[in-house]
Amino acid sequence: MNVSKKRILTGDRPTGKLHLGHYVGSLQNRVALQDKYACHFIIADLHTLTTKSEKVYLDELDRSIYNVVLDYLAVGIDPERSVIFLQSAVPETFELTLLLGNLVTLPRLTRLPSIKEMARAANMDDETVPFGLIGYPVLQAADILLPRAHLVPVGKDNEAHVEITREIARRFNRMYEVEVFPIPDVLIGEVPTLVGTDGQAKMSKSLGNAILLSDDAETVEQKVRTMYTDPNRIRADVPGRVEGNPVFIYHDAFNPDLGEVEDLKSRYRQGKVGDVEVKRKLASAINSFLEPIRERRATYASQPGLVEEILVEGSRKMQATARQTMDMVYAAMGLSGPRLRQVIHGEAVPFRLG
Ligand code: TRP
Repeated sequence: MNVSKKRILTGDRPTGKLHLGHYVGSLQNRVALQDKYACHFIIADLHTLTTKSEKVYLDELDRSIYNVVLDYLAVGIDPERSVIFLQSAVPETFELTLLLGNLVTLPRLTRLPSIKEMARAANMDDETVPFGLIGYPVLQAADILLPRAHLVPVGKDNEAHVEITREIARRFNRMYEVEVFPIPDVLIGEVPTLVGTDGQAKMSKSLGNAILLSDDAETVEQKVRTMYTDPNRIRADVPGRVEGNPVFIYHDAFNPDLGEVEDLKSRYRQGKVGDVEVKRKLASAINSFLEPIRERRATYASQPGLVEEILVEGSRKMQATARQTMDMVYAAMGLSGPRLRQVIHGEAVPFRLG
């Protein structure tokens, strides 16, 4: 049964706790697709190195890895059905990244707005940007292609990277004349990019405008209270704008009571409801949404060693799959070194040069 399932690969950089933007952008899709697909969720620790110009503090990185796994479990990613693994535990990632780097041009990578944006955020310019950051999408392509994934549920900001992965996969298959890699499709979340609580285009922990999946009820209330709304609406009796208003974007995304949302919208447009009421109902909707997530998080967190065990098991499974893919890749390319390596490891493999 399992063998016939198509595969998903997606994941996150461990930079801290996940937030509502991650949920509507990608997590929601992942949770829903666990039955239909063989899912692989990567904690991409190697990707965090691409924007670092100083020593990475391992305590901090480990803490983030722990928190991302916990957030996954909390939203309903099920380690019994899905593989959760740590990128740097799978050495095949390093191997495939180097090989795939030959299948994409430098200008294709340097032109990407996402790479420019990450460089800018890390205070890097054309002179100081590392090779590794330019190669970010190549590393991501290796992640996606190692399990030979068919589908990649990601936020809008990662769409271009999946497109590059498709180009690389096609190029590989054509160049070596074997269909090693399926061409992976991208799946974007219901709310492709969630605005920040401050009205900025994107919710992001580093911008300080995020509601975390692990925030307690009081924190959510406080964050919602200070949310950006319609700036032209100086009093509750002034008609307000609903479209593009973060408070209503969040109501649409998280309030399942459609009647309440419609009522609030129509009264807002007429200047018949105050921001306080709109926000109070929003905080309450977000808290009802987060409550089961918080409960599951607490249950998993109360079992010492469980998160680590899940990562060990997942990484073991992922590596077995990755090894098979690399065997296919090396066979397709005809590279001798990997066969020589097998000889070194005592396997009776035919090894002749020329
Ligand atoms: N680039 C993703 C992010 O923005 C993380 C990531 C790394 C990823 N490898 C991936 C996402 C593979 C999907 C598939 O954090």
